[in-house]
Amino acid sequence: MESMKSTAAGSDLSEQIKAATKDSHVRAENTQLMLNYQKGQITQTQYKLLLCSLYEIYRALEEELDRNASHPAVQPIYFPQELARLESLERDLEHFFGPHWRTRVTVPAATHRYTQRLREIGNNSPGLLVAHAYTRYLGDLSGGQVLGKITQKSLGLSGNKGAQFFWFPGVTSPNRFKQMYRSRMNSIELTEQQRQDLLDEATTAFELNIEVFDDLQKMLSITGEASSDKGNEAKSKRFSSSPVLQFALGVGLTLATVGMGVYAF
Ligand code: HEM
Repeated sequence: MESMKSTAAGSDLSEQIKAATKDSHVRAENTQLMLNYQKGQITQTQYKLLLCSLYEIYRALEEELDRNASHPAVQPIYFPQELARLESLERDLEHFFGPHWRTRVTVPAATHRYTQRLREIGNNSPGLLVAHAYTRYLGDLSGGQVLGKITQKSLGLSGNKGAQFFWFPGVTSPNRFKQMYRSRMNSIELTEQQRQDLLDEATTAFELNIEVFDDLQKMLSITGEASSDKGNEAKSKRFSSSPVLQFALGVGLTLATVGMGVYAF
């Protein structure tokens, strides 16, 4: 089934990976969190919670990419100057949580599973990091650019303050960069088995993202922060009068009620 997909998509890895993850992309776009986001229904609490998870995900991804930078599969797609997100996420977290933001990072179990997978492949099969770098960075340079504008507008942020994550100062043209990135992916030498493993890992990467969004949505729905209908807009406004309290309350309630495991790293 997968190999038929690959043949239909041509022999370039970039085409094959896009084809292999097409359905997963549709599912990721249609998670409740992403649907709300696209409608501009994002509150500061939601965004802060998302930033915490992104921080842990990029910390694992970028540490593993750095450590494996000279691996023959990683080296062609290793662009820390242009792509690295960790520092921008740290600045965004500091913007919202203040200087002691590190003590405030809280993530659900799905985020923990995602980072564990990144550590595992970083240690045992670094070539598969290509699938994770593709899923996150090309996503950030695609739909992510729209989400960045929505974030600024919805939260009334001035300039990039608090939303540096979406901003790639080292990338002048996202489209041209993506073209170049795809051709670098296509230059990686792979056996058929390695190619198939990489395509499977890309589907896993999307799945891990979907699970993070679903867990975040669960946490938010308990706090009354999940705005899936108009009525919630009023609720969100009411809560947002004290974002710090609201966040602490939300996480506490989630811990108590869902019992799904919340991790402070
Ligand atoms: C609101 C949700 C989303 C929207 C509106 C969206 C939109 C888009 C669009 C329009 C493209 C095509 C850009 C182009 O062809 O140049 C794209 C590509 C992509 N997106 Fe998304 N996306 C969303 C969520 C996600 C998520 C959650 C992920 C993964 C975690 C993701 C990963 C990707 C990847 C890897 C590509 C590159 C595909 C390729 O050219 O090979 N997207 N997205």
